[in-house]
Amino acid sequence: MAALKTPLIAPSLLAADFSCAADEVAAVERGGADWLHLDVMDGHFVPNLSMGPQLIKALRPRSKLAFDVHLMIAPVDPYIEAFAKAGADHIHLHVEAGPHTHRSLQHVRDHGVKPGIAICPATPPEAVSEVLDLVDMILVMTVNPGFGGQKFLTSQLAKIKTLRRMADATGRDIRIGVDGGITAQTAPLAVAAGADVLIAGTSVYGQDDYGAAIRDLRSGVHIPA
Ligand code: DX5
Ligand code: ZN
Repeated sequence: MAALKTPLIAPSLLAADFSCAADEVAAVERGGADWLHLDVMDGHFVPNLSMGPQLIKALRPRSKLAFDVHLMIAPVDPYIEAFAKAGADHIHLHVEAGPHTHRSLQHVRDHGVKPGIAICPATPPEAVSEVLDLVDMILVMTVNPGFGGQKFLTSQLAKIKTLRRMADATGRDIRIGVDGGITAQTAPLAVAAGADVLIAGTSVYGQDDYGAAIRDLRSGVHIPA
């Protein structure tokens, strides 16, 4: 394994109070978050609806956090430009979202945004092997996408390990994010398997003190310098 990096914490706005979204973003920024994760759902690729580029654009001037946008939509291509213009720093699209993810990832890069490939629990790690040269991150779903508050699937740990090996073998700097059911208990398992970005909705926004929740996540997985 390549040298371990201190994992980044990316609270997922999906679990926040949307009636005061900008305050909710500011609160995790003050609380020590590294990135903000934004979940986009289309009611087609996943059985739920969430937010579109308008909300992301409205929040962009209110925060310095990197905006980590997770597209759970199909098709993807017609919307990449809108999310790039809205202020996304990273755009993750799903390997299951269509036959031309290779081209879609290139579009993301062409818009000056860092591309990531997301992978559902039922999809084997080899499904992303031919796009690793195009991505800065692999987003491993540790729940079936569509809803917050689900239980972490320990069955995905072996896949994280395999993907860590595959990512390291490229010689490129590829982060591995884990998304779904991440808590102070499950985060250390994911990090031990090779994850270095922790997406956390309920375990941050579901707590009274967001800063304490972020510290809890971090303390379990701290890698000494
Ligand atoms: C699920 C989303 C996740 C979700 C995670 O489809 O991609 O980002 O917000 O929520 P928790 O942390 O509550 O499982
Ligand atoms: Zn997500």
